[in-house]
Amino acid sequence: MELNRTKIVDALKSTSFGEAVNIKGWVRTRRGNKNVNFIALNDGSTIHNIQIVVDTEKFGDEFLKPITTGACLSIIGTLTESQGQGQAVEILADKIEIYGTADPNTYPLQKKGHSMEFLREIAHLRPRTNTFGAVLRIRHHMAMAIHRFFHERGFFYFHAPIITGSDCEGAGQMFQVTTMNLYNLKKEKDGSIDYSEDFFGKQVSLTVSGQLEAELAAMSLGAVYTFGPTFRAENSNTPRHLAEFWMIEPEVAFIEIVENMQLAEDFIKYCIQWALDNCKDDIAFLNNMIDKELIDRLHFVVNNEFIRLTYTEGVKVLEDAVAKGHKFEFPIFWGADLASEHERYLVEEHFKKPVILTDYPKEIKSFYMKQNDDGRTVRAMDVLFPKIGEIIGGSQREENLEKLQKRAEEMHVPTKDIWWYLDTRRFGTAPHSGFGLGFERLLLFVTGMTNIRDVIPFPRTPNNAEF
Ligand code: 4AD
Ligand code: MG
Repeated sequence: MELNRTKIVDALKSTSFGEAVNIKGWVRTRRGNKNVNFIALNDGSTIHNIQIVVDTEKFGDEFLKPITTGACLSIIGTLTESQGQGQAVEILADKIEIYGTADPNTYPLQKKGHSMEFLREIAHLRPRTNTFGAVLRIRHHMAMAIHRFFHERGFFYFHAPIITGSDCEGAGQMFQVTTMNLYNLKKEKDGSIDYSEDFFGKQVSLTVSGQLEAELAAMSLGAVYTFGPTFRAENSNTPRHLAEFWMIEPEVAFIEIVENMQLAEDFIKYCIQWALDNCKDDIAFLNNMIDKELIDRLHFVVNNEFIRLTYTEGVKVLEDAVAKGHKFEFPIFWGADLASEHERYLVEEHFKKPVILTDYPKEIKSFYMKQNDDGRTVRAMDVLFPKIGEIIGGSQREENLEKLQKRAEEMHVPTKDIWWYLDTRRFGTAPHSGFGLGFERLLLFVTGMTNIRDVIPFPRTPNNAEF
């Protein structure tokens, strides 16, 4: 009878000693002596390897020679209680099939301790390292946590389009999508490009946010969230920016900014608790190898209330810090967009807790945010995190048609492209709020990794779209 394959994660938990099992995976190491070899095999189901014990006489040196780091094997053997330290279970090999070899002269993942920069150059192979295996498993679990959180609360998963004619954030950082022949562009008399013959008959781009469409959905389904890829052509080569990232955008009818803040806090805490409960081995590994304070920091966020204060109060704290001699690279004054150093000062040095900053100057925020009565600020909310800075950006939305239209025009948002969005304010408008969480920024926090390029399988950044 054909023996079914057992995943290593299950084999390591098994106590069916003496039974035959079939294990498949990639060789991490092979070591040993004349009589016995030990192969550490990993199949990605867990951070832990299983040890295969090989009687060298039985298989012969010639056969064992190509079993080097990176080779792929299928092993049939007997599950045994381990004699060695550090593992409960090992396999005594009866049959070894070599699926694929990995020439040690050319396979790049030889010794341990490659730099993150080097691993980025071999992003097609880096999931075979312990660190990236852990990160990618956690990435999966976080996606599950997000869907569960919203599903449990009666939100509907809503798919906003990726190709769009509107620039939600109004920052002009969009990647254009076209099938036109760029070597022979058809121009109008005034020199502008004639899009009438382009695929969609108009100029379109990759979305910077699913929010505008999510707002339409909230105005019918009540509470929705999007979770999809998002694109920004901002030329910021920082450890916190990607040109292609994933964003989660809940949007909820009938809630105002205070409930929106609570939703954001509950949401992040749920995700982090989920990681602590469901990714124990991977997080323990990362805590050990990457960031010794990781687990403490995760517990700390789950167990503490986030600080809430206005932008104006936040700027006051920062100005006081400057007056007392603290040096920032960028100037701080009321009206300034906060730099990550300012955000991190509030979180890491002043309050020593996550902070939700609200009521920003309207000039530095998007056209759709609800305007406060002071005429200067809008009902924005940014959630600021230790090590990360801004992890969430959101707001209560302007539900008044005239105010929204006026603000859009002031900010040069072409209202003709968003007539459908304005219709929500025309027909049955309602107070509503939402926010966007950058998935990779959450992953930075949960894994303790320090560069956003290392929490997504294949990062897209300026001058880099390999793989
Ligand atoms: O603050 P942002 O620009 O807000 C919006 O896009 C709103 N439409 C969200 C909403 O209210 N529905 O982006 C939201 C979050 C940021 O807080 C950050 O975590 C992440 O998205 N983000 C990025 N992550 C990686 N790379 C980039 N270039 C990012 N830009 C924003
Ligand atoms: Mg923002």
